[in-house]
Amino acid sequence: MKKYLSTLSIISLALLLVSCNDTKKANYSNQTDVEVKTTIYTASNHPGKKIMESKCYVCHNPSTDHDSRIAPPMVAIKSHYLSNDTSKEEFTNAVWSFVKQPSKDKTKMRGAVKRFGVMPYQPFSEEDIKLISDYMYDFKIDEPEWFKEHIEEESNGKMKHRNSGKKDESSASAKSSLRDSRPEGEQSVKANTPVIEAKNML
Ligand code: HEC
Repeated sequence: MKKYLSTLSIISLALLLVSCNDTKKANYSNQTDVEVKTTIYTASNHPGKKIMESKCYVCHNPSTDHDSRIAPPMVAIKSHYLSNDTSKEEFTNAVWSFVKQPSKDKTKMRGAVKRFGVMPYQPFSEEDIKLISDYMYDFKIDEPEWFKEHIEEESNGKMKHRNSGKKDESSASAKSSLRDSRPEGEQSVKANTPVIEAKNML
């Protein structure tokens, strides 16, 4: 009888542990939900960066040279879709409006349509496009070295090279992609130091 009782208590203890575990899990997942919502993204941990690199870089990558391209680099899109006072919401809506149904009528990049044809429709989700746009708007993105000169030349100076990032001052990896065209001496110390950290992270 004693043995029976202790087996019983072991079983109930085990059951108790399992159910405790369950509650812990539930709490844990609640906590992570909250964490996701309150995360302040940096250039390196922003989810939009990864999505952009996996879904858009097939065609829009910054490393292919000008003559071998099949689509403009992402920075070209950023430059055409931003003006001095474009809000993040306007930027995101404009990108989504095109991507959800690409057409010649909606283009802001006639030269690109002429050269490459209209972007083929792909079933991207609005959520992904929002994250990508958020990343592009907030951070300086990787761009080809030839781009700045190219856009100003092609548009006779009318189109501005735009690749600022509101948050990149505080982010290490944003610096690694920063192509600062200013001479060494004019670059701020702040802009130079974090590059070392970014290299160590690789
Ligand atoms: C299969 C190749 C391909 C992929 C993948 C691709 N694009 Fe494009 N995209 C193009 C081409 C080609 C153009 C240039 C022609 C044009 O503007 O329609 C373009 C142009 C654009 C434009 C500018 C449209 C305009 O004319 O105003 C936006 C915005 C855009 N892409 C967003 C994206 C985003 C965001 C992704 C990833 C989620 C993506 N594209 C993935 C081929 C692609």
